[in-house]
Amino acid sequence: MLPESGTELSIVEVAPRDGLQNEAIVLAPKLRAEFIRRLTSTGISRIEAGSFVNPKWIPAMAGTADVFAELDGLNGVRLSALTPNARGFADACATSVGEVAVFMSASETHNQKNTNCSTQESVDRFAPILEQSTALGLRVRGYLSVVAGCPYEGSVAVSRVVRLGSRLLEMGCYELSLGDTIGVATPRQIHTLMDGFAAEGIDSDRLAWHLHDTRGTALANVVAGLERGVRTFDASAGGLGGCPYAPGASGNVATEDVVYLADQMGLSTGIDLDALVDVSGWMAEHLGKAPVSRVWQAMWSAKETR
Ligand code: HMG
Ligand code: MG
Repeated sequence: MLPESGTELSIVEVAPRDGLQNEAIVLAPKLRAEFIRRLTSTGISRIEAGSFVNPKWIPAMAGTADVFAELDGLNGVRLSALTPNARGFADACATSVGEVAVFMSASETHNQKNTNCSTQESVDRFAPILEQSTALGLRVRGYLSVVAGCPYEGSVAVSRVVRLGSRLLEMGCYELSLGDTIGVATPRQIHTLMDGFAAEGIDSDRLAWHLHDTRGTALANVVAGLERGVRTFDASAGGLGGCPYAPGASGNVATEDVVYLADQMGLSTGIDLDALVDVSGWMAEHLGKAPVSRVWQAMWSAKETR
């Protein structure tokens, strides 16, 4: 069933992390911070600001600590960062980070390629992060990638997704973001995975969807998530993004596309779509390419012909 008019959605803006991590142009921390400041001014209230990972593998996320330093004192927004291990968590804790996210994959091969360890080793790495964050009063989000298909192994069993996802929640993650990393999912798969979690007693309010739009199915999958009671969706301004360890995978569902859908369905995101289009247009100039978002394209050309 679709949500009632007036229902609030929570958008987690991931462009400054997922959006920029795969770009050929590496942006300076000052500019990334300015991007975040501008995103905040559109009403976005949750933003993934960067990641504390090895800059040898993800050069675009180098200087994430400097991004946080630039944003010190920014109000009205929850800023988070990816922390895959103790080193990343310690680096994050030395900043003003408000929340961290641990990430692992549902398939062994993607986990190995992405984080240089097995899924069991990921769980072992996360245990002390969750213990320490509880003591520090820091929230931890959990990500599970390739839930609808792996670029190396193909299909991934629902039972495996549900087992690993449940483990992250049991360990203390307050929310589990389910990643269709390579954008292969269809609404039926979203329903099947939601059935799997429901059978384990996991409510939709603990789940979020992180949908890449490689094959143009992401927005349909958002609707499937809405039908199943999910109210939190990751999205990326302009549709920027991709995973460096998922060859050919394109960006997340565009925030503009989700906000347009929500607005027209009478759902509330708190985000000013017109202002967001301007921010994505500004970022596009820095990256030297137009956003892929269909809504952005329609609204931008309408602005230009005005
Ligand atoms: P590791 O296992 O220690 O191994 O790192 P390593 O081969 O990277 O090498 C070790 C070196 O890394 C050592 O330095 C460590 O000190 C250093 P050296 O002795 O060579 O000078 N090191 C670090 N440096 C900075 N920050 C750290 C850190 N840890 C160790 N945190 C690690 C494991 C996961 C850190 C590494 O493999 C890595 O950085 N991988 C990149 C992972 C990544 O960022 N992937 C993209 C994000 S995930 C994603 O996009 C999916 C998502 O969007 C959801 C979806 O779409 O499904 C979330
Ligand atoms: Mg992603």
